[in-house]
Amino acid sequence: MPPTADAPHAARLRLQRFDTEDARAAFARDVARGLGSSPKQLFPKYFYDELGSELFDAICLLPEYYLTRAENEILARHADEIVAAAASSRAPDGAPLSLLELGSGSATKTRRVIEAILKRQPDLLYRPVDISASALTASADALLQAYPALRIEAYASDYDGALGHLSRGRDARADERLLALFLGSNVGNFDRDGAQQFLRALRGVLREGDALLLGADLKKDRAALEAAYDDALGVTAAFNLNLLVRLNREFGADFDVRAFRHVAAYNEEAGRVEIYIKSRREQIVRLPGLDLEITFDAGERVHTENSYKYDRDGLDALAAETGFACTRRWTDEGGRFSSNLFVAR
Ligand code: AVI
Repeated sequence: MPPTADAPHAARLRLQRFDTEDARAAFARDVARGLGSSPKQLFPKYFYDELGSELFDAICLLPEYYLTRAENEILARHADEIVAAAASSRAPDGAPLSLLELGSGSATKTRRVIEAILKRQPDLLYRPVDISASALTASADALLQAYPALRIEAYASDYDGALGHLSRGRDARADERLLALFLGSNVGNFDRDGAQQFLRALRGVLREGDALLLGADLKKDRAALEAAYDDALGVTAAFNLNLLVRLNREFGADFDVRAFRHVAAYNEEAGRVEIYIKSRREQIVRLPGLDLEITFDAGERVHTENSYKYDRDGLDALAAETGFACTRRWTDEGGRFSSNLFVAR
C-alpha cells in the first residue's frame, strides 16, 4: 500500500542509487585522461563533493549571480500558470501530476512548483535526481517536513543512470502524468550535442503531452556574465579551485592551491562562459593515488566548465530537435533568464 499523506517522515522517502558505473573508478579515469591530455580538462560534475555543493549554494546567494534570483522571480510569479499549462498539455485524463527533477540540489526553487501542484491535487510524488547523496538527503528531509502530502523517491545518481532506470519503468507508470524540471541553467553546462542527447534521453522517459520546464540563462553583455562567474568575494573561485582540494584528498595529490587561480571568460562567438583553473607558475604536481605526475607551464589552463547562454530561437530549435515543442516561455522582469515549457510531441 502506498504511504498516505500523514504517514511518518521516513515512510514517505525512498532513496535509490543508479550509477551507471563505479563512481570512484570513473573519477580516477576521467582525471587521468583529463590532466594527461592537451589542453588539460576536468569535468564540471566533479565540482559537487560535499563542500562543492555547499559552495554552489553560496554562489546562488551572490549579488553577481543573478540566475537563481531571476528564476526564483519567474517561479514565484508564474508557478500556478506553469503548472496549469503542464497539466493541460495532455488530454484531460484525470491523472494527477507527478514531478521529476534532474539536478535537484537543495530544491529550494522546486518548492514553488510543489506548492502550485498541491493546490490542484491532494498529494504529490516527487522524484529528485542528484549526483550528491548528501544534498538529496538534506533537501528531502526539509521538503518532507514542510509538505505532509509529499512522497519522495530520490535517486542518488548521474543523469544517465536515473534516466535509464526511469525509461525502463515507463510502461509501469502508464497512468502517470509527468512534469519534469531541469532548472537553474543546468542545460548550459552541456555543449550543444550533449544538450540534445540529454533532452532526447529525458524525452524517452516522458509520454506524449508530458512537459518539461527548462530553465535557461539568456545571452547578455559580457560584463554581467563575467561578473556572475567571477564574483568579488571569490566564492566562484573557491568552488572551482575546490576541485584541486578534492584531488589532494581523494588521490593524495600535492596541488598547492595558491599556485593556481580561477579564470572566467565569455566566449561570445560560442555563446558560453568558459571556466578555467590557471597555473600561476611552472610546476610539477604528483597524484600518487593515480600513479601520475603532471607538469604545468606558467599560465597553462585546465578547462573545468562551460556555461552556455541561449537566445529564444536557439531554445525553440533545441525543443524541435529533441522531440518537444516549446509552447510557453516566461522571463524575469530584467529579461535575463528564461523558463521554457517544452511539451513532448
Ligand atoms: C550548475 N550550473 C548551472 C552553474 C552555471 O551557472 O553554469 C554552475 C556554476 N559554475 C560557476 N558558477 C555557477
